Amino acid sequence: MSGAPAERASRRELRSRQWYGESVSSGLRSFSHRARTRQLGYLPEEHLGKPFIAVLNTWSDINPCHSHLRDRAQAVKRGVWQAGGFPLEFPVATLSETFQKPTPMLYRNLLAMETEELLRSYPVDGAVLLGGCDKTTPALLMGAASVDLPAVFVPAGPMLPGHWRGETLGSGTDMWKYWDDHRAGLIGDCELTELESGLARSPGHCMTMGTAATLTAAAEALGVTVPGASSVPAVDSGHDRMAAASGLRIVGLVREDRRLSRILTPDAFADAVTTVLGLGGSTNAVIHLIAMAGRAGVRLTLDDFDRIARTVPVLANVRPGGERYLMEDFHFAGGLPGFLSRITDLLHLDRPTVCHDTLREQLAGARVYDADVIRTRDDPVAEEGGVAVLRGNLCPDGAVIKHIAAEPHLLRHTGPAVVFDDYRTMQRTIHDPALGITPDHVLVLRGSGPKGGPGMPEYGMLPLPDHLLKRGVRDMVRISDARMSGTSYGTCVLHVAPESYVGGPLALVRTGDLITLDVPARSLRLEVSDEELARRRAAWTPPPARYERGYGALYSEQITQADTGCDFAFLARPGTVPDPYAG
Ligand code: FES
Ligand code: MG
Repeated sequence: MSGAPAERASRRELRSRQWYGESVSSGLRSFSHRARTRQLGYLPEEHLGKPFIAVLNTWSDINPCHSHLRDRAQAVKRGVWQAGGFPLEFPVATLSETFQKPTPMLYRNLLAMETEELLRSYPVDGAVLLGGCDKTTPALLMGAASVDLPAVFVPAGPMLPGHWRGETLGSGTDMWKYWDDHRAGLIGDCELTELESGLARSPGHCMTMGTAATLTAAAEALGVTVPGASSVPAVDSGHDRMAAASGLRIVGLVREDRRLSRILTPDAFADAVTTVLGLGGSTNAVIHLIAMAGRAGVRLTLDDFDRIARTVPVLANVRPGGERYLMEDFHFAGGLPGFLSRITDLLHLDRPTVCHDTLREQLAGARVYDADVIRTRDDPVAEEGGVAVLRGNLCPDGAVIKHIAAEPHLLRHTGPAVVFDDYRTMQRTIHDPALGITPDHVLVLRGSGPKGGPGMPEYGMLPLPDHLLKRGVRDMVRISDARMSGTSYGTCVLHVAPESYVGGPLALVRTGDLITLDVPARSLRLEVSDEELARRRAAWTPPPARYERGYGALYSEQITQADTGCDFAFLARPGTVPDPYAG
């Protein structure tokens, strides 16, 4: 044995060393692993004694949000090599918000499982996680948190702003808008065909403050990215540099043994909640942050969101919550460091990040360069955080609403319900004028929750009936156990828990029942007596199982409700997992 005591200690701490042993004659297994690494084309001096860094890549030909990540992985590896590490790229499941059906939410936990098990079962000392399209960010971080190795997250970055006939277009938000215009007869098929080429102009995730931008910002706020990483446009050369910087940094993190558990603390999650609310971010962040916190052993609840929402103003003037701007504007206005510099009094500045010993140190020098994009505290986009948590007899375990994306006059509203038992029925019938739907009605969709959907598809922004659209109606109260795209808008009450499929009160609503939404009072009530609800409950029968076998069956058996993050019960619970090399 050679080397100074400190060097020996750090060598002993490398997990990967268990695969390779101390010397060529350490044992048959290490002999085999050395031989197979020669088969990969590496010299002993390229990897022995070096931190093994897994680069987990969600790149795929089918995922337009991640189509640049194949190249970015090369920049990450460049950084790892430069810092004296040994990078190994692992392709992992790609979750494309656009293409994967019924919803990539069904597969978030599958990617989390894959991440956890790959990191555990291979010679890995640290990980760089490449993701960004909606569910990929929480999935990668949930899995990595469960293994608790040092890790750095590389956000995919927003795509370029959309353009069409002199207008700037935002992902999702303008797609819905122009689709509604087409349905209302304001534009024709020619215009739609042109829009196809203008809405999404480059690789990268949605460039509105949708779920992707919200979750990557949350990752930066948690402290698991290099500073400023989350808003770097996907095709900017700065994105390559950010990826290389992440590769450089992970090697240092392994040497310092700065694991995710040092970063993902209760204070870090509180700051991530403050961040997503102050950004006016996606309601999906509520579910994902609760699930991510659970994996880190941190208890985060819906009430934490509502409490924090009352303390933080919305400062990011980014669509759809804000009026005008897109993520590229946000980036050049100072990005997340600039935004956080506006709310330092609301943050826990003494906690560590992957790059700094304290968040205070990380934010030193952060500035805002455009006070219309990142507003001042005196001139916010909204006085309070963008998401409110509702309670009441229709949602005993809570529901959420992004009230800054709603028509203000609907935030206090009583109206008769029109109930749709599932999405297909709703699609088939909602435009039928014979239903007699008026702007005062409350549209209710059930059968769209974690088990019933399954996977809580983003059905929550129910379409408005054509005849109302043509009359100029642009918003109505809508209630469901589904989720909503982060780029959507409207008075949509979401994530009603428990869901209808498991017998939540949503299952008992009938067309014509009065429903009262009162966002200032945080209340959602079904105006039906307890006795009548008890009668309806006694007559209710659970729907048949959706999946008889396969992953869907596992999902249905294990998925938890929206208020607890929709993790699998067997993944969310505490407990130890044996080291694979112990046996
Ligand atoms: Fe991938 Fe919006 S579709 S982030
Ligand atoms: Mg989305």
